[in-house]
Amino acid sequence: MWHKYLYDNFSANQTINSKKFLQTANEQVDDIINLLGLNNKRVKILDVPCGTGRHLVQFCKRGYKITGIEINRDLINIAKDLLAKKKLNAPIYQGNMNNLKKFAGKFDLVTNLFSSIGYFQNDKENEYAISEILKTVRHGGKAIFETTHRRYIDRVYSPITWHTDITNKTIIAETRCFDKKTSCMEGIQSFVDLKTGKTSSHYHKIRLYRANELKNIILKNGAKKVQLYSDLKGNPFDINQSKRLILIASL
Ligand SMILES: C[S@@+](CC[C@H](N)C(=O)[O-])C[C@H]1O[C@@H](n2cnc3c(N)ncnc32)[C@H](O)[C@@H]1O
Repeated sequence: MWHKYLYDNFSANQTINSKKFLQTANEQVDDIINLLGLNNKRVKILDVPCGTGRHLVQFCKRGYKITGIEINRDLINIAKDLLAKKKLNAPIYQGNMNNLKKFAGKFDLVTNLFSSIGYFQNDKENEYAISEILKTVRHGGKAIFETTHRRYIDRVYSPITWHTDITNKTIIAETRCFDKKTSCMEGIQSFVDLKTGKTSSHYHKIRLYRANELKNIILKNGAKKVQLYSDLKGNPFDINQSKRLILIASL
């Protein structure tokens, strides 16, 4: 199961646990609260997969009841350290997003953030995981997916990119292969620490969805209504302009 090893501590610290990503999560959580009008702090939220807990910690800090699920134990430990440092408390379970039976109907809101769907072997398995995520929400609740979309990748696809991180201490290089037929992108992301020479490489594969395709999958799996946005501030989705795709499903 490759997706288990999407990050180790080193690469997580260069990406989802970096200062820049933590700051982004802080802003995104405010945006989600505004967009969904989450005034009642008693709403029960599930963040799956929660990674290093960057959004979970922010919800928790604002007084919301939030639970996290994540497959990678190393990332859960980072999330727990973050919570402890801030003297906060939230349950985080190690689990697979394709089996969320014991959480069915338990939440008012489920969040799936930063391109965290499409990791499974084929379309059937990917749709099954999406249905499991949706089932965690009680009748009348909401689900939010924040991801990329096929049309954007068609526009910007490049088989190789590299950049240095914000502090200029790490090179992050990525080689990719995009199969237009299956709409799957496979790639290897490599990190080189310029000071120590330490390297770390991670394979990933993601099924990219067209906006309407994903909307229909969500509708087919129990949502009554799905709204599309181009960001968490609620700007309208534009298939030719939007970099990101946000779907808010009403269950
Ligand atoms: C792109 S990261 C996003 C994490 C988090 N939502 C964020 O924004 O930082 C995707 C996460 O999915 C986790 N993951 C991959 N496959 C999973 C699975 N089958 N079940 C649960 N988590 C999984 C990875 O370990 C990784 O933390």
